[in-house]
Amino acid sequence: MANVTSLQSIIFHKPANTPLIAFTGVVLLLTILTAGWYTPSGSFLGVFDLHRAWKFLARRYDFMRSSAHQRTLTRFRVVQHRVIALSGTDFRKFFFNDGKLAWREAYLVLMSGMPEVTDIDMHEQVTDDAVRKRTVQLFSPSRLECLRPAFLEHMQTQMDRWGSSGKFAVFEDVFSLIYQFTVHMTTCRELAHNPEDLRHLYEYYYTIESSSTPFSMMFPWIRSPALGRKRQATEKLVGLLMKYIQLRRESKTMSTDAFDVCINDGISDQEIIEFVLETIFAGVINTGVNACWILVYLGFNPEWKDKITTEIYTLLDAHAPVTGPGDTIESRLASVPTSAWDDSMPMLDLAIREVLRLITASITLLRRNKLRDLKLGAEPIPKDAFLAYNLSDIHFDPSVYSDPMSFDPSRFSAERAEGKEVPNAFLGWGAGRHPCLGLKVAKLEMKIIVAHVLGAFKYTIVDGNGTPLKQAPIHDRNNIHKAKPLGDPCYIKYERKTK
Ligand code: HEM
Repeated sequence: MANVTSLQSIIFHKPANTPLIAFTGVVLLLTILTAGWYTPSGSFLGVFDLHRAWKFLARRYDFMRSSAHQRTLTRFRVVQHRVIALSGTDFRKFFFNDGKLAWREAYLVLMSGMPEVTDIDMHEQVTDDAVRKRTVQLFSPSRLECLRPAFLEHMQTQMDRWGSSGKFAVFEDVFSLIYQFTVHMTTCRELAHNPEDLRHLYEYYYTIESSSTPFSMMFPWIRSPALGRKRQATEKLVGLLMKYIQLRRESKTMSTDAFDVCINDGISDQEIIEFVLETIFAGVINTGVNACWILVYLGFNPEWKDKITTEIYTLLDAHAPVTGPGDTIESRLASVPTSAWDDSMPMLDLAIREVLRLITASITLLRRNKLRDLKLGAEPIPKDAFLAYNLSDIHFDPSVYSDPMSFDPSRFSAERAEGKEVPNAFLGWGAGRHPCLGLKVAKLEMKIIVAHVLGAFKYTIVDGNGTPLKQAPIHDRNNIHKAKPLGDPCYIKYERKTK
């Protein structure tokens, strides 16, 4: 059971204060209108910045593409915050490698939409380093051995649901599968197998995400109904997680699930919750989006679909040869060892890299210069300024990647090796000080899904009526959290292969 008293003690409530809102509004308006007067350089322009701030928050990709492609710096304000959009090799090197730039805080302020525990007392006790250390431990290559059977089990359930032919909405079914994988690997089996609580957890995340609007990010101190909903959903989310932590603490038998590993290590409830909030978010969003898009891109590229299908059958013949008529693709894939998933699928590795290049190009990474005023060449980087770098700056650079908007996994082959000579030319997994800590696990998840779908089915990408789409749908690059296709949903129409 959730410990309601301790929950209430860790969630911070404040009643709305109408006079304060009105006062804040007036101060805010004056601040915006006069902002340029207070900046000696004159480069922060007040009213114009309000428009730019709105664009940065509401249509971030379009804004970054239009402002940060001149290999220079673009300065603007998001209300009281100074933001500098960077572009070009030198700025990129600084952004990824300077150890003094703060990481987490930049996202909490300028991205939002993720569950925050800043409203919760526990925030003081758990450092970024502690969460990072836990992530490294729980997603280490050796842990993949424990996670693989759990992923395969959820995959099997989904394969049974799909049956031998039909049509499924890619951005729903594959996304939910990744969601289930992620909940399992970050919490415990009991939660990952409880459909009702899984749904509740998803609803809480969704409420938190949708409560993040440009308005709430610009004026976080205004206690809007959206912020109230966010706080309430965070409270419920924490309550649900506490219920399962408690359940595992009371259990007599320990498993290899993340909660049990943390409990065994003597980790506090607070630290476990911090870890889960951060990793579910990081895991579901990125892995979900890329796993969906890889199936879509392959659906439009028969050459690569065939290459990868052949690779899957070769892998099966090497590690799980047919032993009798009862063998299925699923039962054979379940026998492939973790190491083979990791190092025996070079074609799929190239395709994943290419999908990441295309899809993560939408992402704007953030940092904050917390310590002191800096200079980058002649350019001042004031203390407390935020830095923003959009990956399209390099991922869509035609001088690095030929025909950069096209899906072409062979650009990363040993013969072509595009981008090899350019520092940090591929940033799909981040680089420098904050590389992705979930890389191995995310690749395993994507490979399991692709191997099952390509190994078992013939498929095409169709619209809602089942009519094949002529070309790949367009990615909504301004949607920070979902990155689904623009327009109508797309589906996979499939039929089980006979052998
Ligand atoms: C296809 C899936 C994924 C992609 C494309 C991806 C991409 C990235 C990128 C670009 C960064 C760098 C962020 C920055 O520099 O600000 C990053 C960092 C990170 N990722 Fe991933 N990620 C994926 C999956 C995951 C998963 C499954 C997890 C965990 C379960 C995870 C955990 C993290 C963490 C904890 C960091 C921050 C590391 C730090 O604090 O230094 N990621 N990821």
